[in-house]
This record gives sequence, structure tokens and C-alpha cells, in this order.
Amino acid sequence: MSSIIVVGAQWGDEGKGRIIDALAKKADAVVRFQGGSNAGHTVVVNGEKFVFHLIPSGALRRGKKCIIGNGVVVDPRELLSEIESLNLRGIRVDSLYLSSNAHVIMPYHQKIEEIEEEQRGKNRIGTTRKGVGPAYVDKAARRGIRAVDLLDKEILNSKLRMSLQFWKNSFELGFSVEAILEEYLEYGRRLEKFIVDTSLIIHELVKEDKVILFEGAQGSLLDVDHGTYPFVTSSNATAGGACTGTGVGPTQIDQVLGVAKAYTTRVGEGPFPTEIHNEVGELIQKRGQEYGATTGRARRCGWFDGVALRYAVRVNGLDGLILTKLDILGGLSRIKICTAYRYRGKVIQDFPLEASHWQECEPVYEEMEGWDDDAFEAKRIEDFPRPIQKYLNRIEEIGGVPILFLSVSAERDNLLALRQDSAALLA
Ligand code: IMP
Repeated sequence: MSSIIVVGAQWGDEGKGRIIDALAKKADAVVRFQGGSNAGHTVVVNGEKFVFHLIPSGALRRGKKCIIGNGVVVDPRELLSEIESLNLRGIRVDSLYLSSNAHVIMPYHQKIEEIEEEQRGKNRIGTTRKGVGPAYVDKAARRGIRAVDLLDKEILNSKLRMSLQFWKNSFELGFSVEAILEEYLEYGRRLEKFIVDTSLIIHELVKEDKVILFEGAQGSLLDVDHGTYPFVTSSNATAGGACTGTGVGPTQIDQVLGVAKAYTTRVGEGPFPTEIHNEVGELIQKRGQEYGATTGRARRCGWFDGVALRYAVRVNGLDGLILTKLDILGGLSRIKICTAYRYRGKVIQDFPLEASHWQECEPVYEEMEGWDDDAFEAKRIEDFPRPIQKYLNRIEEIGGVPILFLSVSAERDNLLALRQDSAALLA
């Protein structure tokens, strides 16, 4: 297995960062393919916490190529400050490659997003306000600025004029081309050594049968096409995005893995059928430290949603699942798991057609016995208490997908392989 895509199977924050870090031990390269610094991937090593926004989560493993693909939108200020802060902590980011075709988030993108969110009022998306959406708008409208443009004054000047003028026609922005031009040319000079044709590099790695991890950001239900539109991010967070966002053909992909929490969280607005509105939700939020790694916002918490899982399995073609944070549910006497929705008087197994109707879906729950707080002292799955085994089996049945790994703490080595072939991915 050499090319593996890892995506979020829920609404993001599933713990992809720590999974990528664990799998990166055996990998040669880790590639980000979509999103931008809206992502916040957390990895804990010996109690020390690292949060990655743009740099792939393989950066903590020496000698791994860290590639930012063409599908990512890059804020150069954030990228440079992330490189610098890792350097200050003794992590040298020397194998970093930034796609020349990756689009650049400009300072006015962030401002536009702030204004738009204010204008939406109670219909706001609840974005991370990193300028990601407007940067993708410029990309699709074919007036975007790409990383390679930061290396050429004339090109940057003309593209900047076109993009800024367009936005100034609708918004009072107060940015001047001259000031941005100088600042962004300087970023270009500092980033030049990283800017390359990443699709070529990945192609060579594939040819040499190297192990490549494609690191998804956000989650399947936040995908701009397949998520709870319009309460989504502006990129393809599902597995197909790994191909378009890096220039690798689908025939080169060997395996697609999904990461899901043992419960569900969502940050920002939008439908969330299994959301818990009582003290159990608050308990999960507190125990799971469910606060955004990028914005610090409290995440909404809910029971495991089997409908969302089936959907994620389908739209990503998931081969296997990695379940995280099962320990957080320890100590609850009863645990609920959603197997279907009740929608307009009918029990349905899949999401309704119109995403705005997803709000009307009521979860159909099965109740299961809980387990004790200290249930995870056992090191082998066979030794786990019966209720945990039942919970895992039920998730596998509902999703029609095997659980390959279980993570029961944030520490890098606490990843339990549940099957022999999955153990081989780590050893
Ligand atoms: P944007 O990606 O900043 O445009 O935000 C769009 C939606 O995606 C909002 O609901 C955000 O809270 C959500 N979102 C964006 N990035 C993440 C993430 O990394 N984890 C969880 N939610 C995210």
C-alpha cells in the first residue's frame, strides 16, 4: 500500500493530525490537498502539543517530505510564521514543497469574509475568518493569484490589480495595490526555495513506489459539493479532492481511510441532527476539550451519527475507519448511537435531497450500555470490556466498514491496530 488518502468522516476535528503523524512513521511524504489555515491539526508528542494549520502533520517525523498541493489556499504570512515557530521549537522544516499552482490568500480576502459574515447575520456560516472562501472564489473566477505569481513583480502587479479592483466594486476595503505588492513580493522571496511543481515530485514518488499520505483537512460533511451546503467549507474535503488537489490520478491511489470520533462534533453553524443539548453534551465537550484548534470556539457535541458515517463511506469509498477519542465516553452509563433519521414522518437511511431540510431530521437512536473510565488500561482489544466491543461492532455494521485503528488518547503511540493488516501500516 503506497498511496493512502486520509479524510475526515464527519464535520472535521476528528483527530486526523495525530493519525497522520502516526502513519507518517512509515511514510516518505505527507501531502495536504485542500483547505488552508482554517485547519488546525493537533499532534501531542511527550506531552508537548503542536498545532499545524498549513504544514502537513508529518513535519514532526524527520526526513519526510511535506508537500502543500495545488488544491490548498495559502496565506503566506501564516505559512512563514508556522515555519518560524516550528524552527524556534527545534523542528527544522527543510523538506517542504509548495505547489507553484496553489492559490494565495490575500489580506483583502480575510476582510471580505468578515464583512460577508456580518452581512449574513443570523444566516452566517460561522467560518474561521481566514479568508479561505473568498480565495477559492477568486480561483474559480480565474482571477486568483498563485504561489508562483509571488515571484514576478509584473505578473503579481497585474493580477493583484484585477482581483482587488473586482472586490472593491462591491466592498469598501481600503487596501492599496502598492502596499500589498511590496509586502507579497517579499513573502515570495522568502518562500521561493519551497515553490516547485509538486505534482511532478509526487509523480516521481509514486513511480518509485514510495509511501505517500494524502492528508485531508476539515471533514466529508464540510465538503463544498457533498457536505451540508451552504454550511460547508469552500473546497473538496472528500477523497476525490486528493486527486484534483495534487495532480495524482485516481488509479494511483491504493487506499482511502476515514477518521471519525466515537461521538460527533461540529464547529460553526449548520444542521447537526445528533447534537446533544444537555449536560451530557457539556460533559463530552469538557472531557474531550472540544474547543477549536484554529479559532478557540467551543465545538457543538453530539452522539455518533451512523447516517453521516454511511454517507462518508459512500462519497469517499472508504476502505477502513480509524476511530478516535473513545475514552471520552468512558463513565457514561448509557450511550446512544444514531442508526437512521425520522424525516417528515418516515424513517430514512440517507440524508434528504435538499440540504436545508437536514435541520428537520430527527435521529433514531439505539441505546447501548456504557463502560468505565478506566476501561482502556487493557492493551488488546480482546481484553476490552464487552460494551466497548459491542459499540465498535455496531459502528462497523452500520457503516459497512472495518475499524482499523482505535485511538484512546492524544499521545502519538496510543494507536491500537485492530487488525493484522492495519498493524502493518504502523510497524
Ligand atoms: P471556512 O472553512 O473558514 O470557510 O469555514 C466554513 C465552515 O467550515 C465553518 O463551519 C467552519 O467552522 C468549518 N471549518 C473550517 N475548517 C474547519 C476545521 O478544520 N475543523 C472543523 N470545522 C472547520
